[in-house]
Amino acid sequence: MKRVIFALTALALLISCSVAPQLSKEEQEAYDFADNLIKKMTLREKIGQLQQFKTRNATVTGPDGVKRDAEAYTRNGEVGSFLSVKTTDELNRLQKIAVEESRLGIPLIFGYDIIHGCRTIFPENLGMSCSWDIEAVEQYARIAAEEAAAFGYHWTFSPMCDISADPRWGRVSEGAGEDPYLGAKIAAAMVRGYQGDNLSSDKTIAACVKHFAAYGAPQAGRDYHTVDMSEVMFRNRYLPPYKAAVKAGAVTVMSSFNDFMGVPASGNRWLIHTLLREELGFNGFVVSDWAAVHEMIAHGTAADGKDAAMQGMLAHLNMDMAHGDYITYGEELVKEGKVSERTINELCREVLAVKYRLGLFDNPFKYGCHNHDEVMYRPENLQVAREVAAKSMVLLSNNGVLPLAENTKIALIGPLADAPRDQIGAWPGFGEADHSVTIRKGLEERFGAKNVLYAKGSDLRAAINGGIEEAVRAARKADVVVLSIGLGYKESGEATSLTEITVPEAQQALLDALKKTGKKVVVLLGTGRAMDLRNEIEKADAVLVTWHGGTMEGPAVADLLSGDKNPSGHLTMSFPYCVGQAPIHYNMKNTGRPRKSPTNNEKYSSRYMYTPNEPLFPFGYGLSYTEFEYSDLQVLTPEVELGGVVKVGVKVKNVGKRDGEDVAQLYVRDLVAETTRPMRELKGFERLSLKAGEEKVVEFEIPTSDLAYCHRDLTTSTDAGDFLVWVGADSNATLEGKFTIK
Ligand code: BGC
Repeated sequence: MKRVIFALTALALLISCSVAPQLSKEEQEAYDFADNLIKKMTLREKIGQLQQFKTRNATVTGPDGVKRDAEAYTRNGEVGSFLSVKTTDELNRLQKIAVEESRLGIPLIFGYDIIHGCRTIFPENLGMSCSWDIEAVEQYARIAAEEAAAFGYHWTFSPMCDISADPRWGRVSEGAGEDPYLGAKIAAAMVRGYQGDNLSSDKTIAACVKHFAAYGAPQAGRDYHTVDMSEVMFRNRYLPPYKAAVKAGAVTVMSSFNDFMGVPASGNRWLIHTLLREELGFNGFVVSDWAAVHEMIAHGTAADGKDAAMQGMLAHLNMDMAHGDYITYGEELVKEGKVSERTINELCREVLAVKYRLGLFDNPFKYGCHNHDEVMYRPENLQVAREVAAKSMVLLSNNGVLPLAENTKIALIGPLADAPRDQIGAWPGFGEADHSVTIRKGLEERFGAKNVLYAKGSDLRAAINGGIEEAVRAARKADVVVLSIGLGYKESGEATSLTEITVPEAQQALLDALKKTGKKVVVLLGTGRAMDLRNEIEKADAVLVTWHGGTMEGPAVADLLSGDKNPSGHLTMSFPYCVGQAPIHYNMKNTGRPRKSPTNNEKYSSRYMYTPNEPLFPFGYGLSYTEFEYSDLQVLTPEVELGGVVKVGVKVKNVGKRDGEDVAQLYVRDLVAETTRPMRELKGFERLSLKAGEEKVVEFEIPTSDLAYCHRDLTTSTDAGDFLVWVGADSNATLEGKFTIK
């Protein structure tokens, strides 16, 4: 330990955090302002800007820890930010203390987890990503930002850019699934949506790229667990969404809880300085995750809070969230020469610059003074939420039972059928369950109240006395059973790791009983994660994944069940055959002993003895009420110069009887490379809308720079060589072509 302290202390003397590269005019102005202000600040005030606290009544998203007197800290200039304050009045009250009663009147920056909506709640992010609709995602973020800004927030802790392929990990619900290419597009769209073109507008808020880095790969899917992977893997699969979000201009980043290659992220200078700032060009500020500085003690890399604070500061971590080691020990560290005042100045100026860019020094109250009723739950925004929810839902199976005819008598059963709180999912910002339009309400409105016979049937994990009997009675009187089952909001998001990912037994018993009535059964699966659905797929006549669909889940479900809209969502996370396959993702590597075919049982090949290698539903999968036929794949550029653009065309025809939308997906494989490459990688996609009988030619353009990968020397570039390419409606696409980069 002594050696570490010595090395870090030496580092403190040698370096101060370097000046951010390539500043825009606006950024330069902000830094100039910050530098001038810093000259007037005491050391304690500067360290105060690096401290974030929660208030007494705040929403708590971690161990509650030490109680602080928010007002006193604010008045003394010993805090720069609060998180998760619950009301606009409270936000304004604290801001008033900061600007009117603290010595220099430096405004506070308020942050909150607005991750899939503020008041108007959209589907949980995994669901939203299944729309593959980048514009819709950007629109979501714009609406969320406007509502959050009106509430009084300047800053959202979103987008979560963590790639994850492990359905045991509950936080997959907050991300965009398993693919780095799609994840990068979504991350950038969210940043654009939150921040807009003008950060100082009272309708935009600062984004926060989290959790840096690789938080989505905890060992065995257990939250907060160790992350250990090769740098090649990290750069190829995990880095792209963070990188895209930084490139899109995100002004803050959050360091993750996990250790990464043996060093906790919040004290990991390579991660949050060398890679993030020097390589990716980030020049905003980095906040730790909740108490993550202090948690370096539990990680076993810091002796105490002071040591942890020192390591955070020297790693270039600007802000300490929720615990308080920065403000408690910062001055001592400077006095003892363990952290230089120059380093503190650097850390502080980056925080002040973001406050300046948000316009807080011009008018610290410009956010949060609107009349809420004018901004929240606007009808046009609820309409967008309904459309995004419908686009996010994924039809996994359908033997013709869907869509339902007009006047169908529906037995609507299940613990999620009328569950206003569950449908808005984990961390629903300031979403209110009493604004949720439930599936029950949505179906009653669309099919007529008299045509919807509702019975809850069971709780999420426990039977209800007489519940099954009541459900069966309803089923007998109906034409069809719609069974809304799955996992509730408490089984989604942070700290909700599971080792079983099947529908809970009480709900399976309900399915069995309903099936015995002989009625057709449509399963609606509410979930924030991929699940093992073997049982439901075998027994149900159709399965539609509805996720936790947000405020407007009910009308969106009605739109799809009635056929007013055609399902068009495609999975962004493979649904495994069983939990033992986890983590599982389509872009796996071939290995030196690949299985020759899905049924080949050669002993010394890479396979399970009694279980398929393949997931039950692959990445990209999703059905529609119509059918799309893909043909005539043409590689328009069979040979391309390095630096050029690969062009691939394909015909897509709607060969069914209904209009519909599909997501055409292009995958490539780099046949020979310096490091092992995935068997397939998504490199293009397009959402298409085709009338019944209509055909379109889709042309994909792939710059060869998009085919770059991490080499043995850890540099990333594209090589000349041969590639295979496939286009189709999921990651098992079979239409194949070839191209060569010269
Ligand atoms: C989560 C972050 C979140 C923070 C503040 C932490 O527990 O990991 O994602 O932004 O709390 O609520």
